[in-house]
Amino acid sequence: MANTLNGKHIVLGVTGSIAAYKAAVIARLLVKSGAEVQVVITPGGKEFITPLTLSTLTRNPVISEFFSARDGSWNSHVSLGQWADAMLIAPCTASTLGKMANGIADNMLLTTYFSMKAPVFIAPAMDLDMYSHPVTQRNIETLRSIGNIIIEPDSGELASQLIGKGRMQEPESILKALEDYFRTDSQLSKKKILITAGPTYEAIDPVRFIGNHSTGKMGFALAEECAAAGAGVTLITGPVNLVANHPGIDRINVTSAHEMYLEAMRCFPGSDAAILCAAVADFTPVVKSDVKIKRKGDITLQLKPTQDIAAALGAVKRPDQYLVGFALETTDEFSNAAEKMERKNLDFIVLNSLRDEGAGFGYDTNKVTIIDRESSQELPLQSKKNVAKAIVGRLAKLMLTLLLFIAPAAISSQELDPQVSVNTSKIQGTDKDVFTTMQNAMQEFLRNQVWTNYHFADNERIQCTFSFVVNTYDASTGRMECELIVQSNRPVFNSAYFTTVFNFRDQSVDFTYTEQDRLDYIPGNIDNNLTAILAYYSLLVIGLDFDTMSLYGGNDILRHAETLAANSQSLGSGWRSFDTNTSRYTIISDYLNGSLASFRQLQYQYHRKGLDDMAANADRGRATITESLALLTAAYEAKSTSALPELFTEIKRNELLNIYSKGLQKEREKVADLLSRINPSLTSDWNTIKTQ
Ligand SMILES: Cc1cc2nc3c(=O)[nH]c(=O)nc-3n(C[C@H](O)[C@H](O)[C@H](O)COP(=O)(O)O)c2cc1C
Repeated sequence: MANTLNGKHIVLGVTGSIAAYKAAVIARLLVKSGAEVQVVITPGGKEFITPLTLSTLTRNPVISEFFSARDGSWNSHVSLGQWADAMLIAPCTASTLGKMANGIADNMLLTTYFSMKAPVFIAPAMDLDMYSHPVTQRNIETLRSIGNIIIEPDSGELASQLIGKGRMQEPESILKALEDYFRTDSQLSKKKILITAGPTYEAIDPVRFIGNHSTGKMGFALAEECAAAGAGVTLITGPVNLVANHPGIDRINVTSAHEMYLEAMRCFPGSDAAILCAAVADFTPVVKSDVKIKRKGDITLQLKPTQDIAAALGAVKRPDQYLVGFALETTDEFSNAAEKMERKNLDFIVLNSLRDEGAGFGYDTNKVTIIDRESSQELPLQSKKNVAKAIVGRLAKLMLTLLLFIAPAAISSQELDPQVSVNTSKIQGTDKDVFTTMQNAMQEFLRNQVWTNYHFADNERIQCTFSFVVNTYDASTGRMECELIVQSNRPVFNSAYFTTVFNFRDQSVDFTYTEQDRLDYIPGNIDNNLTAILAYYSLLVIGLDFDTMSLYGGNDILRHAETLAANSQSLGSGWRSFDTNTSRYTIISDYLNGSLASFRQLQYQYHRKGLDDMAANADRGRATITESLALLTAAYEAKSTSALPELFTEIKRNELLNIYSKGLQKEREKVADLLSRINPSLTSDWNTIKTQ
């Protein structure tokens, strides 16, 4: 795997937990991975580990006080917030969690946290009672809801010698969470993978059930691997005692086989592939007693077969979807598994054998054979993580091979399907050929420039328009002042409808263009403002589109846009952060600001979870959209000066009016009030939601 932390700037926050000694290992692992590490420690943290240890390991002085004791100069938490690619607080005490969740900034670590523009990872560490306390849990939920990534603590023996949940994750796991976040060489990027995991419980009466020994470890390992490979993962899991760490995993908890069936059928149409790893009950009681069955002699439990999830998905599978099953056999393993693959229309099947020592339920290792129609491959006994890696690699290869096989001509690496127009009606008495040449040059540039490593089929290109209105033009120099409206659309699943993801009027587009000019984009070396503007909006449009497809999916591309905006400050007006809250730099830096993470979650929830579900079930889609709008409020409250929440309401105005032309009165009123608060200038529109 590529070393994704190489060159990254990491702020490592250390607090006063007994686990603080592990911060030294984390610092060492980060430095070994090529990251530059700046430690910020609380006064409490210094009681547990010396700054000298941490500064020696990171080769950077440790920051603890607001003012440097040596010369009285002050440490800037704001510049740290801008410098960092990520902040990791490990260990994080209950006290610091509480302060973060409640806006208390009384030490350097906390002020740094509140100024942080990069994603924040939090690894809590505390005793089990402190951890399970409702206040701690509420604080964790608050932080999670604003986009902080919680690296859940482990269960095990604690410093107090009690056993329970609260022990900080091991440094290696913490490092992996960061590595996965920055991973870009994604073989499954832009793919949606559905995974089922764990056992199902079939209720006999209110207290008893029929279950099995599945722990969910294999399914969770698959989910982590798929998410780390860039996929958006929906993990439908039965009752297990596991935590999914990657932010790209969307977890749905179910109990019975029937619930798992319903969720799988609901999610499969929107997925590119499904891996069915759950140990689903084959039988369920015909009758579930409403009261606890009393002990009185023999009883006979009548069972009926459950729905066969793999067969049901296999029956509705489209040619562009892939289905992977698991088989746990105790006799005639190979032939039973191969027969199951055929019968259920699977692309390949993973055979687990209970005969192998160290494989199957509960172990951290597994030994499997991957069987497809041409061959079978027996893998050695290895960690479930490595087994997951092999399965995911096999799936990714299959998806790519079939894509190439089906439509080699359709494959393109270019991301955009642009339409460029140049309106010169305000310009009088000039030869207008230059504008035609410019329009063609821009069209060609936007069509041909490749911005990412991802493969786009022609029909996957992002529809976008770049509409220029030229306000002034100096023919002697080629200098012009323009207004540019950029719009991008995204198809909504299972419908002919396209939703507008971005629509922005940039009124500060000035540049010089002559017919001899070529538009060439050389990253890190842009001296032409027109190219910079086209590049910036291309990256923004692609990044936003990716964000609607998977949670934070556009991260790398958007960071590229941010760097470009930062480097283009002197190329012309409209870039500078202090110009307005809609300058190009401010738009992208607000969007990537950790405190506005809920806005990015909104992009995903609203589009992927809500709109994409509307064709299948309009009421459910609408309910999800209503839920997602709480994230809009959270973003607005987190930074009311940001233009983004209001911009969202403008872009989505007509769509929202349409969506809420139906629905419950109470829901409509709630939404109308929320939108009026964020964009009062459209209150009369929002009021129609209440009355229509
Ligand atoms: C020996 C000892 C161990 C502690 N371990 C923890 C811990 O693991 N987690 C925690 O939340 N607090 C722990 N505390 C309490 C914190 O140190 C205390 O709440 C402190 O105010 C935290 O400050 P800080 O978060 O600003 O570093 C411990 C205290 C002592 C004396």
